Amino acid sequence: MSDAPLFIDTHAHLAMSQFDEDREAAIARARAAGVARMIEIGYDLPSSRAAVALAERHPAIYAVVGLQPNHIHEAPPDYLEQVRALAAHPKVVAIGEIGLDYYWMRVPAASQEEVFRAQIALARDLGLPVVIHSRDAQADTLRILADAARGQTGVMHAFSGDWAYARACLDIGFMLSFTGTLTYAKATALHEVARRAPLAVLLTETDSPFLSPNPYRGQRNEPAYVRLVAERLAALREEPLARVAAQVWANAERLFTFDGPRR
Ligand code: NI
Repeated sequence: MSDAPLFIDTHAHLAMSQFDEDREAAIARARAAGVARMIEIGYDLPSSRAAVALAERHPAIYAVVGLQPNHIHEAPPDYLEQVRALAAHPKVVAIGEIGLDYYWMRVPAASQEEVFRAQIALARDLGLPVVIHSRDAQADTLRILADAARGQTGVMHAFSGDWAYARACLDIGFMLSFTGTLTYAKATALHEVARRAPLAVLLTETDSPFLSPNPYRGQRNEPAYVRLVAERLAALREEPLARVAAQVWANAERLFTFDGPRR
């Protein structure tokens, strides 16, 4: 048995075209770097189907299915039934990524909220956690989660707010997931969150192919680099990497129940 720490990338998009040339090699590099589990995240129906297909091919990969707010306008009227059908797969561990995006605002806020609430309700119905995408929409995200998702579990993916926002998310009962942005020297508000939040509610992710950690900033990200996020988290908290990695692993197991009873 090895004592090398195991890492988890709770949010990747390996099915995207940025990995068409080396998808299997990227997965192999992650495994070699100690990334023993990866979660492939859908953002529309095709990518949700692709996430399930990838999870079927790889024991270390699990899937999350749902409609991200920037893709709502492309979805068919029966999208909710299609997400529900995909979620019946035993390797689907959450509904996501779902939420609000007021940066791109591809559809009106009211439509985003309607689809967000519908998918929260679906997750509740299925007994699954939710993976939240929120960009330039903190107040409305909190309002909807506090109202519709209280008592449900979930994670704020690619968390990028300050301590006040983090505290509000934790009060609702959600976890916070850090990406490579945690490694950026100027991300001081995020560093404060990483120091002050209880370790028991923190996760690590890459959001590959986006948000590469230093020293790969500006290049394509890949799941192997989640180790750099965990290392930065451990350094900020002045705790051993092994302890941080083990707790993050346990947190992910608690939230996603990878091998738990299935619907
Ligand atoms: Ni994503």
